[in-house]
Amino acid sequence: MQRGIFITFEGGEGCGKSSHIKSLAQYFESKSRQCVITREPGGTPLSEKIRDLLLNAKEGAKMSPRAELLLFEASRAQHVDELILPALAEGKVVLCDRFADSSSAYQGVARKLGGDSVEWLNNFAVAGAIPDMTILLDIPAEEGIARANARDNDNPDRMGAEKISFYQAVRESFLKIASQNPNRFVVVDSSGEKEATFEKIINAVKEKFDV
Ligand code: TYD
Repeated sequence: MQRGIFITFEGGEGCGKSSHIKSLAQYFESKSRQCVITREPGGTPLSEKIRDLLLNAKEGAKMSPRAELLLFEASRAQHVDELILPALAEGKVVLCDRFADSSSAYQGVARKLGGDSVEWLNNFAVAGAIPDMTILLDIPAEEGIARANARDNDNPDRMGAEKISFYQAVRESFLKIASQNPNRFVVVDSSGEKEATFEKIINAVKEKFDV
């Protein structure tokens, strides 16, 4: 059986992850590779319930940053055990919209919980499911927020309603994590035309994997 491939997409709000994930899945399927598209928080029925708590529950207005981190990690542990590891064991290509690096950037840095706790919890939750490749779609925070507001009709969820400085800290953090993990990360400028961005993604994927 062919080895599974695990690719994660990261980036700030409105960076265009979901449309590129769909296009990349079509590419893999055209090469006869079975693909699973999934997302965090979410991806399994239980993890989707946790997602709803994190993003939409009215009680979330009082959520403590530590509770927030633990809910993201709980959603992740379930997702890894129920969906990601079994799919990889079956030789599938798993394309995941956000993963552990989001907790490092959003909770570790922007929420100021600190890298050590987040790193420990990330390792505990992912249980060895380290991405083969992480594609960071980089866009200035203001541009991404403007795109996300247009998409969400100016009605952001709880994580989308922070000040611009929060998303600037997220962006800086992602870029730093990428520079510290050059073998895993590909940083793609996502501020231009969608087609040009996808071309860069597909070239990076072809270079790394035999597809
Ligand atoms: P989503 O609607 O998927 O946002 P986007 O389209 O920007 O990816 O909502 C996920 C939100 O949760 C997003 O604001 C990022 C945040 N998040 C964290 O703060 N920590 C995490 O570990 C993950 C996975 C997401």
